Amino acid sequence: MAADFKIAPSILSSDFARLGDEVKAIDAAGCDYVHIDVMDGHFVPNLTFGPPIISCIRPCTDKVFDVHLMINPAQPYLQDYADAGADIITVHAEADAHLDRSLQFIRSIGKKAGISLNPGTPETVVEYVIDKVDLILVMSVNPGFGGQSFIGSQLEKIRRLRQMIGERPIDLEVDGGINTKTIGDVVAAGANVVVAGSAVFNDGDYEKSISALRAAAG
Ligand code: DX5
Ligand code: ZN
Repeated sequence: MAADFKIAPSILSSDFARLGDEVKAIDAAGCDYVHIDVMDGHFVPNLTFGPPIISCIRPCTDKVFDVHLMINPAQPYLQDYADAGADIITVHAEADAHLDRSLQFIRSIGKKAGISLNPGTPETVVEYVIDKVDLILVMSVNPGFGGQSFIGSQLEKIRRLRQMIGERPIDLEVDGGINTKTIGDVVAAGANVVVAGSAVFNDGDYEKSISALRAAAG
């Protein structure tokens, strides 16, 4: 397992009635990042958190806020998510028309820039922006919901992206359907950050589920 291996629980699967306490709980349970799934009901068929909610939970932890923007357009809102407390802001390659401009803007305001690829999007989409990203997020489910099954075809994409990244300091993150059965193949393929929503929150004992994922990562 990579020395910089990280687990990023997705709060999409948490209890929204106790969101602040849930963030504190995964922090105490040993998460590395807090994965925040922002959905607009347009780019994906679900609606979740806006900047005000992120601002409210920001004081609950010092852990990295890994904000996954499943919204289109994303460009007009990047500053708002940065102001709300995002540390990493990830946009979808399939969203705005001007991907390069969005990535440059995110870095220009002092945040880490991420690009996310839906299952049907080839890894070649990162070719001309790979030196403008700090994180590449491979979707291993079709975005919009937690609790879906892992799409195995993405393992080859992860392998190819790990090759493309080479020595660059870029996190390769995989998101969707990650559990103790799928995490080993994903890490072996080259991912160093994994997102897990239902695999962390469904059990109730977050420390146990995060430790089980770390152990299964190999
Ligand atoms: C899906 C989100 C994922 C999801 C992961 O659109 O981007 O982060 O919450 O949930 P699980 O781990 O349950 O597949
Ligand atoms: Zn996500």
